Amino acid sequence: MTNTLTINADQGTNTIDPHIYGHFAEHLGRCIYEGFWVGEDSDIPNTRGIRNDVVEALKKLHIPNLRWPGGCFADEYHWKDGVGPRENRASIVNTHWGSVTENNHFGTHEFFDLCEMLGTAPYICGNVGSGTVQEMSEWVEYCTHTGPSPMADWRARNGRKEPWQLPFFGVGNESWGCGGNMRPEFYADEYRRYQTYVRHYDKNKIFKIACGANSADYEWTEVLMRRAGGHMDGLSLHFYTVPGEWKKKGSATQFDQAEYFITLQKALKMEELIQRHGGIMDRYDPKKRVALIVDEWGTWFDVEEGTNPGFLYQQNTLRDALVAGLTLNIFNAHCDRVRMANIAQTVNVLQAMILTDGAKMILTPTYHVFEMWKVHQGATMLPIHLSSEDYRHEDKQIPAWSASASKDGAGRIHLTVCHTNPSQSATLSVELRGTKAASVSGRIMTANELNTHNTFDNAEAIAPRDLNEGDAHLEGDRLTLTLPPASVAVFTLETQGVM
Ligand code: AHR
Repeated sequence: MTNTLTINADQGTNTIDPHIYGHFAEHLGRCIYEGFWVGEDSDIPNTRGIRNDVVEALKKLHIPNLRWPGGCFADEYHWKDGVGPRENRASIVNTHWGSVTENNHFGTHEFFDLCEMLGTAPYICGNVGSGTVQEMSEWVEYCTHTGPSPMADWRARNGRKEPWQLPFFGVGNESWGCGGNMRPEFYADEYRRYQTYVRHYDKNKIFKIACGANSADYEWTEVLMRRAGGHMDGLSLHFYTVPGEWKKKGSATQFDQAEYFITLQKALKMEELIQRHGGIMDRYDPKKRVALIVDEWGTWFDVEEGTNPGFLYQQNTLRDALVAGLTLNIFNAHCDRVRMANIAQTVNVLQAMILTDGAKMILTPTYHVFEMWKVHQGATMLPIHLSSEDYRHEDKQIPAWSASASKDGAGRIHLTVCHTNPSQSATLSVELRGTKAASVSGRIMTANELNTHNTFDNAEAIAPRDLNEGDAHLEGDRLTLTLPPASVAVFTLETQGVM
């Protein structure tokens, strides 16, 4: 069998929402503190306490939105602790994540400052589990009311006269678990009540996101859509790729081919989850007004040896790059319903873009995937037909190829591809229907070992490279791609218009 892909360049009606490429930063381990925030007095170069190297690196990803402050932390976060002069801010214990002391030096003002530096849209997750309706309502007033108002006036006294734009607000996080252990019926009612007081002040229109299901909990989606669907703009979904069991998840770097296979196989479950949750949503919302927001996804391995188990610090290999590429291709394919997603998490936690060690910083293979895949942001998704060989491991198999194509505003076609088979290179024959291509360019990322990763001593062990002769051959409407074992790639076709 050969591997063939047809790209229907003259079709495509749905836009790939840039917000699918969103990120997540929680007060967890070294994500906020050390990862983003080092404080104004730090020797690490920073702007108003936020480290410059991390901001510069992330700007290259065109991060569309950043979710904060959690995660589980969100439902025990009391935002008033985190505003005003830093030296007066109350300390709390971060009971979820290592029971460390949280000094609240990074709060609302610092978060919006970070978003402005990154040029990204803020996505705040409010506290339903241990907070009050009034507290949530006042937070929105504090951030977005033009004033005069009690909260807007307080914001001005704390140094910010102008309101911020707050486009996205989550009403609770994992309310079925760390966010309050609620039943869906109870949360649906709580959601209706809390969201009532998440006000749209002046020109700030808030997109309200209800806490959605854990993985395959379809009952949660059913109940939420039935009881509260009319009150939400988005419903979330959380799904992590864990190769083993929660108690023994598996190492981020020490794994064999069997574990590589099972990791990719589990990551591909995202397709089924979106189809089935989406199917339930279709029954209540056939016009797809409510977006499915996958606001936590990514790999979750055992923490790196010698690190705090509550900090969720893990390395990131070529395997993570495959997981990221496969998942983003799935999101693109469902961009009519999936209109936002947030990989967990941006720096030093789980499937991170960036790892830091003091003043040092490295980019992970997952960072490179987000950088390669950013061409799809805001482009028109092109329907494809992929016929793929299997990558077999023992008696199981997954497709050897995954692809996603889009057309940008300038008429260029972008194609992202994952080749999952780690044992052999292979060829994909691409037919371009409805257009003629003049040239092809692209980049490929792979490595000799599946567990290749960047370290603070070798920061360039894995990174994308430009195409070599023989990687891509364009002739008429046919593009022939030859990809190495276990690789991800992006190709751009300059076209001569629709035929
Ligand atoms: O991302 C880590 C944690 O995973 C989040 O805090 C929580 O929402 C989820 O269980």
